[in-house]
Amino acid sequence: MKKIEFNQVLNNYREVLPQGVFLTTKADGEVNTMTMGWGTVGYIWNQNIIMAPVRKSRHTHQLIENSDYFTASVPLNGQLKKELQFCGTKSGRDYDKIDELNLELLEVEECEVPVIKGNDLHFIARIKYKQDMNIDKLAKDIVEKKYPKQDMHTFYYGEVVAVYQE
Ligand SMILES: Cc1cc2nc3c(=O)[nH]c(=O)nc-3n(C[C@H](O)[C@H](O)[C@H](O)COP(=O)(O)O)c2cc1C
Repeated sequence: MKKIEFNQVLNNYREVLPQGVFLTTKADGEVNTMTMGWGTVGYIWNQNIIMAPVRKSRHTHQLIENSDYFTASVPLNGQLKKELQFCGTKSGRDYDKIDELNLELLEVEECEVPVIKGNDLHFIARIKYKQDMNIDKLAKDIVEKKYPKQDMHTFYYGEVVAVYQE
């Protein structure tokens, strides 16, 4: 993998995000990945930031709460559709998704959390801030459409400490 600058590829990340990227976490030796379709890309605290919204019901929530990093692996060319579908509907509580799908993990030097081979871009993010959503502050139309069961997200803001191109 080759390291590249975040600014070169942030638009590519934003464009493919709604179709899904792999949000990978690791805690206590367990690696899990889930499909993520929402998020923001920005610049705060003089740092390049990506934000990952994770509902409290996800297994990922448990792992990311016990880690300082997450990674996002991004297929730019429509590959890994079946894998994104599986990782977006099955929980790490019930399946070892990495094993089930024969996903190959690649180690990175910045952190213990690996990335998923076969993607074009990999973002390594160090968590700098996290915020539980406050339903009282949210527009009613969004509460009704997106949170009927009040399964709120926690927003994880990660500084992009490296970007790799495969
Ligand atoms: C296209 C797509 C995008 C998704 N985006 C998110 C997201 O941004 N945040 C989230 O919490 N769940 C999202 N999900 C749902 C999780 O991927 C799904 O609940 C997954 O099974 C959670 O896995 P886990 O329990 O192993 O963490 C998305 C699912 C799909 C199919």
